[in-house]
Amino acid sequence: MTGTPESARGFEAAEGHAGGKLILLGEHAVVHGEPAIAAGIPAGMRVAVTPRSDGRRTAAGVDVTDMRLARAIAIAAERLGIDAGQGFDVSIAGELPDAVGLGSSASLSVGLARALAAATRTTLRGDDLAAAAHAVEGAFHGTPSGVDVTTVLQGGLGWYEVGPPRRWEALAAARPLEIVVVVADRRHDTGRTVGSLRERATARPGLYRPIFRAIGDLVREARSAIESGDLRRLGEAMTLDHGLLRVCGVSTPVLDAAVEEAVSHGALGAKLTGGGGGGAIVALAEDGGPSLANVLSRPGRPAFAVRLPGG
Ligand code: PMV
Repeated sequence: MTGTPESARGFEAAEGHAGGKLILLGEHAVVHGEPAIAAGIPAGMRVAVTPRSDGRRTAAGVDVTDMRLARAIAIAAERLGIDAGQGFDVSIAGELPDAVGLGSSASLSVGLARALAAATRTTLRGDDLAAAAHAVEGAFHGTPSGVDVTTVLQGGLGWYEVGPPRRWEALAAARPLEIVVVVADRRHDTGRTVGSLRERATARPGLYRPIFRAIGDLVREARSAIESGDLRRLGEAMTLDHGLLRVCGVSTPVLDAAVEEAVSHGALGAKLTGGGGGGAIVALAEDGGPSLANVLSRPGRPAFAVRLPGG
């Protein structure tokens, strides 16, 4: 348990907020021990909790029917040492599109832990908050690498390794990175893409291990490109990473087409981001992120620019 015994006594209305994230390179291989590079983004999720006197736990007033959300709420409450008889309602407002690889479930996990901590006046230390949020995220993703929750908690641009222990190292970019996110494909299920790739990789390690290692090499290459300000080399590493993710079977024709389109409009590189099987791509703009976002967005396919500071 992460809260103090005293913390379990009262319960008052409270809110918790957390930002989202994007993975620049290394998703999927990170689950298998390779490094990843990710960045926090300000858009995230806001979670409000209000006490209920009837002991029920609801989301937006309705009994929670989504099993994963119900499990997430139960885990968060248990981690915070909240009495099993304490009812409360959870309401979730998102600035992030759900299930497209931008960290909505990690953001929800951190926001929920923060909201319940505030509701019970529990002071969570950084490690306790991380442990609670990682446990809650497990309800959504099975056995995540932890890159999403860690990035949401740390913010900024960083290098992540699953460990154990999990390791985050802030990266200093020599030049700002103009990233364009295109929400190109339908919602995806990260637990499913991670699970089915894990099955294939376990059945044929000789085929998949070298691919994961090659992704790790691209992440190392990208780090040196970021730190030296070589955006062309970074873009090339991103597009190559997309090719390897495609070989791993986690891309889709829609994501592949969006990557091609971004590159044909002058992006230095592009790739799917997050779990794949749908969701979003990220493209590295040469200079004007907003103008590339403009070119790539169309009805039903939002695109937005994120500037990661550097220099
Ligand atoms: O939750 P998503 O879709 O952003 O993907 C997370 C990144 C993966 O490497 C695919 C899974 C993980 O746990 O690291």
